[in-house]
Amino acid sequence: MAFSVLVTGANRGIGLELTRRLVSQSGTDQAKHVFATCRNTGDCKDLDDIKEKHDNLHILELDVTDEASYPRLVKQVEQVVKGDGLNLLINNAGFANNQPLHELTSEQMRHMYDVNCIAPIMLTKAFLPLLRAGSHANPDLSGEIMCWKRAAVVNINSRMGSIADNGMGKFYAYRASKAAQNAVTRSLGIDLRPERILVVSVDPGWVQTRMGGPNGKISPEESARRIVSTLSKLGPEHTSTYMDNLGEPLPW
Ligand SMILES: NC(=O)c1ccc[n+]([C@@H]2O[C@H](COP(=O)([O-])OP(=O)(O)OC[C@H]3O[C@@H](n4cnc5c(N)ncnc54)[C@H](OP(=O)(O)O)[C@@H]3O)[C@@H](O)[C@H]2O)c1
Repeated sequence: MAFSVLVTGANRGIGLELTRRLVSQSGTDQAKHVFATCRNTGDCKDLDDIKEKHDNLHILELDVTDEASYPRLVKQVEQVVKGDGLNLLINNAGFANNQPLHELTSEQMRHMYDVNCIAPIMLTKAFLPLLRAGSHANPDLSGEIMCWKRAAVVNINSRMGSIADNGMGKFYAYRASKAAQNAVTRSLGIDLRPERILVVSVDPGWVQTRMGGPNGKISPEESARRIVSTLSKLGPEHTSTYMDNLGEPLPW
């Protein structure tokens, strides 16, 4: 089964571990192509090390805020997947900080919004032709079937994107940008359902990465393991929803 995935922000943290897991799956979950993007392909040793053992990995350069580069990226992916299209887009690249209110600037708000909300929707838009091709290419995955191997967009969100769950305040820019990403997930899921493209927001957990810090509750490996396991169980009832890394629903 031709099954191709693209992960943004794959040079470290959760994106790196998602990539490691996706390239090495076997059996029917084996990905034919995994595209891992990072801002500097000349400085991504961990991805280079994975590639030495897995020739289904393709490392491509992408700053997600550089929209002008999207057509080139899409073309690079298309040249590899050809008519099979792309099946899974994981919008993982993200940025966080916690400027207290008296230090917060509109510039910081805009940058966070660019990375965490605008990039995921514009990248999804750029990859729609390939996702549509993925949705229609496999005769075994037709009709009403919706699943990650057919066509899906996964927005790596955060519990901090939940307005209902915010009992602690702070993190203005990050919370606002992830809440906005959730609004995007909801609309995209509704709009793309007729094309059998599944769209979800997933909170990876509090993870020991540069962003999550050393006190995170789980390792990036464990987060990636849970996310991939959850994605493999998604069906049409999950599109347009927001969940934790085990697939449990989160309140918007
Ligand atoms: N860690 C947690 O506890 C936690 C909790 C909830 C949600 N999340 C979400 O999980 C996702 C991954 O986070 P992480 O913990 O793995 O963070 P991380 O270790 O800080 O990694 C962030 C990744 O995003 C990339 N990135 C940032 N800005 C980018 C840009 N403009 N263009 C392309 N790539 C960019 C970084 O690339 P560079 O190396 O080039 O900077 C890096 O690869 C994020 O969406 C984050 O919001 C994390």
